[in-house]
Amino acid sequence: MDLDYWKKRWQDNQTHWHVDRIHPLLQKYYPLLSQTQDSHVLLPLSGKTLDIEWLLEQGHQVTCVEVSDIAIEEIQKRMDIQWQIEKKGPFTVYTYQKLTILQGDYFLLPEISLPHVDFVFDRAAFVAIDPQDRTSYAKIYQHLQPKHILLVLFRYDLTASTHPPYAFADQEIFSLLEPSFDIKLLESKEMLEEFPRFKARNIAEFFQDAYLANLRI
Ligand SMILES: C[S@@+](CC[C@H](N)C(=O)[O-])C[C@H]1O[C@@H](n2cnc3c(N)ncnc32)[C@H](O)[C@@H]1O
Repeated sequence: MDLDYWKKRWQDNQTHWHVDRIHPLLQKYYPLLSQTQDSHVLLPLSGKTLDIEWLLEQGHQVTCVEVSDIAIEEIQKRMDIQWQIEKKGPFTVYTYQKLTILQGDYFLLPEISLPHVDFVFDRAAFVAIDPQDRTSYAKIYQHLQPKHILLVLFRYDLTASTHPPYAFADQEIFSLLEPSFDIKLLESKEMLEEFPRFKARNIAEFFQDAYLANLRI
């Protein structure tokens, strides 16, 4: 899926993935992320998630990666802040206090140096990227070596997958991340009734899964 597809989704206001609350599974599993107040959290493909403010309130340094300038503008308006803006390699960097947003292509993240990332919250990021890019995506986690990754993903029939969120097989998370991480499925909840748009696509099963990946030491 190219970046223009996502930019257009933002231009057309087609951002149905956005939840108007802090993600309940982030709050539920936050204690497993064994963070200290000043630890650094990465939100890949962050959109305009409200988790940003919640994580800042917990005292964290927060880095988001997002391609859309509309998302970044909406965060600015919502937080009522002024960015400091600079260029860093392939990214435009927006900074406000402990928040940094890297605007650009997530796959270029290894081209810049970042403060060490302590934990990652991947909500609907893994399923947003093209399935053929999953190995490259997992390599970024291997490169960053965060202590924990919490993944919250929709999972449904593999055959029905033509556009994001892309379907995946449960084992894929394990095979992609296991070289560096121990992975646990924390929960898997059937959600079809709550997502009529997926029901309309004749999807038989639709789950929200939460996985925790802990860096092997
Ligand atoms: C499904 S949304 C998930 C948003 C967010 N994680 C949330 O929970 O609201 C995917 C987001 O990633 C952005 N995106 C997609 N591919 C990207 C890439 N390669 N680099 C940076 N951002 C990307 C899109 O613009 C979109 O906002």
